[in-house]
Amino acid sequence: MAVVPPPTANDRSPADAAGATPATEGGELSAHGARGLPPTVAWDGDAVVLLDQRALPGLVRFERVTSASSMCTAIRTMVVRGAPALGVAGAFGVALAVRAGEDPARAAARLEATRPTAINLARGARRALSAADPLAEALAMVAEDVERNRRIGDLGAALLPDSARIVTHCNAGALACAGYGTALGVVRSAHRSGRSPSVWVRETRPVLQGSRLTAWELGRLGIPATLIVDSAAGALMAAGEVDCCVVGADRVAANGDVANKVGTYELAVLARHHGVPFLVAAPVDTIDLECPDGAAIPIEQRDPDEVRRTAGHDTAPRGTAVWNPAFDVTPASLVDAIVTERGVARPPYPGALAALCGGDPARP
Ligand code: MRU
Repeated sequence: MAVVPPPTANDRSPADAAGATPATEGGELSAHGARGLPPTVAWDGDAVVLLDQRALPGLVRFERVTSASSMCTAIRTMVVRGAPALGVAGAFGVALAVRAGEDPARAAARLEATRPTAINLARGARRALSAADPLAEALAMVAEDVERNRRIGDLGAALLPDSARIVTHCNAGALACAGYGTALGVVRSAHRSGRSPSVWVRETRPVLQGSRLTAWELGRLGIPATLIVDSAAGALMAAGEVDCCVVGADRVAANGDVANKVGTYELAVLARHHGVPFLVAAPVDTIDLECPDGAAIPIEQRDPDEVRRTAGHDTAPRGTAVWNPAFDVTPASLVDAIVTERGVARPPYPGALAALCGGDPARP
């Protein structure tokens, strides 16, 4: 099979063509520290400003959130999404509850329940809850997230060959974080150091985080990227066009099982079959030593209409039965390395992950 290689330049997004909101609000550098990427979560003095990820790639639009309950809605409807960004959003949600004189513990519990798989959300909400100044804590988390993602990126990039052709799934980039990204942080660090990576972007049915977000983000960064349908990854690997898979994580169990966007597991199976290294990039905050294995990770089930409808149109008969888990679990045996800001864990994972977490399951 002939495979067209990733192009050397990305198409511009429809937002450019339409002259939509400039990509970077208020100056050259955003919280992402990169040209052309707007902040995903920011504080404007009165409200939390969220980049509305439902509108991308067509529009760069922001939503102001002024209460913990609107933050719950924004998280549930995926205005903000991605494990590290959810952690920061959870912390800001608690800060909003405190400012409004609401019970912060109740707000934290409601926030945690909105999306149960990413442990970062619960951790962010609890961290703000136990802080003397929840707003200052949330702001500190934004800065920390960008810094640790840079470290993840640099450590992960060192594992890639030059000119690596990388498959990624979903969006584990700056848009999924306060900035820089985890899996895409690895790609970014390789790109910044002149190592010429290119990315095969799986579209990631049904919410299309790959095609809507990852393709847009890589385009803004000037990193070569080619969009594929999810089911094309096997054919690409069979054709020898993939050097490595790099994905993010929503929760890593103590034994190294990894929960991430549904479809990650099948990608890992394909990678092992074809001898392609499979890397997970995630902050230590995503490791949950209290979860012994993947079976203990709660998997969020989402609205059947995400599968039955696309862009406002029916793509299946109304009422068709649907199974729509947002995430799946990749067994540790299929994961070659887990890259964190504190170092790279390799099998056997139980000892390696515990060492990275300092041995305390509740405080990574
Ligand atoms: O449903 P989403 O878009 O929140 O899922 C996001 C993912 O699965 C990401 O890969 C994961 O959160 C890691 S983001 C750095």
